[in-house]
Amino acid sequence: MLNLCDTTPVINLDEQLKESFRVRDLDQKFLYLEEGAKLFYKEKKADFLYWIFSVNEKTLKELDLQSICDKTKWASNALISLGCGNSQTESMILQNCDSKVNIEYFGIDISKAMLDLSIKNLKNVWKKTNFICSDFTSNEFKSKIIDLTSKKTNRVYVMFGNIFWNFKSSKLINILNNILKSWDKLWIDVRLKKWDTVWDDLRLFNHYRSYLNSKEQVDFFSNIFWKLWTPKENFYLYLTTFHDQVLGSLRFDFSATFTKKTTLNIAGDEFIILPNENMHIVHIYAYDYYKLINFFQEHGFVLKKMSNDDGRGHFIFEKN
Ligand SMILES: C[S@@+](CC[C@H](N)C(=O)[O-])C[C@H]1O[C@@H](n2cnc3c(N)ncnc32)[C@H](O)[C@@H]1O
Repeated sequence: MLNLCDTTPVINLDEQLKESFRVRDLDQKFLYLEEGAKLFYKEKKADFLYWIFSVNEKTLKELDLQSICDKTKWASNALISLGCGNSQTESMILQNCDSKVNIEYFGIDISKAMLDLSIKNLKNVWKKTNFICSDFTSNEFKSKIIDLTSKKTNRVYVMFGNIFWNFKSSKLINILNNILKSWDKLWIDVRLKKWDTVWDDLRLFNHYRSYLNSKEQVDFFSNIFWKLWTPKENFYLYLTTFHDQVLGSLRFDFSATFTKKTTLNIAGDEFIILPNENMHIVHIYAYDYYKLINFFQEHGFVLKKMSNDDGRGHFIFEKN
């Protein structure tokens, strides 16, 4: 059994957090560190090892990991989850695989708290597991994963949960393009717009607006400010929307507006935020089905399989 658990923290997180505050745009990875992991799954109303799935039985049948694995005699497959969180979805996918298919799992997450959950979730499920505490957008990670998986005959990258749709698409596609090699697969799940109508946009808007009425969701978004000792009354959360013409997507932006002058200290540096300044917290995209596929095609990916269930779309692409 190989269980290389590399949880070396990335060195410059403090510097990156400072940069987020300088540009008033939080890198979403900061939401999930330490107790952020618990708050995320608490908000999802998930208990028992933060039990939550991004895949249902219909999708499992339609997409089926084994069907995109190499099953030849000398095959070796790598299943690499970027932003794996608690790996519960991957655990379910692996439980549905024949243990004779040679698959090694690599769970990557910036949050040590999340990786601890992954380790527990996969302990009795799959033998060949690796957990890597790293920022998957970094060059260090790119070299590391290419090194670790260079001998594999097939690589399947997955991004489940909110992870794909929380990133700016132009940034993420560039990172993925430079990590994945020809024939590598990418399995993502995203929120899809059901119809291209104002009514559907309103329906989605009302869905996300309700987040602001949920104590758990507000706690999850606000935690980063509380950790830096910002008094609760110094800011409030709000939601704006943005239409992305290239992706035909509707983007929901959650931000904080400061109501009072606030002074923060981040690893020895002072930050002053004035009343009425905004700090962006997280994006959530709802994509147009055809434009998302076209977006991937334009970046050198071919659609292999897809499954759409009530606004939740799973896509498997292959790199050209
Ligand atoms: C919304 S959660 C999704 C977790 C899981 N995939 C699921 O389906 O529930 C996003 C995860 O991505 C991780 N993450 C965000 N940005 C990251 C980055 N740049 N590098 C590594 N992990 C990251 C977070 O720590 C968090 O665990």
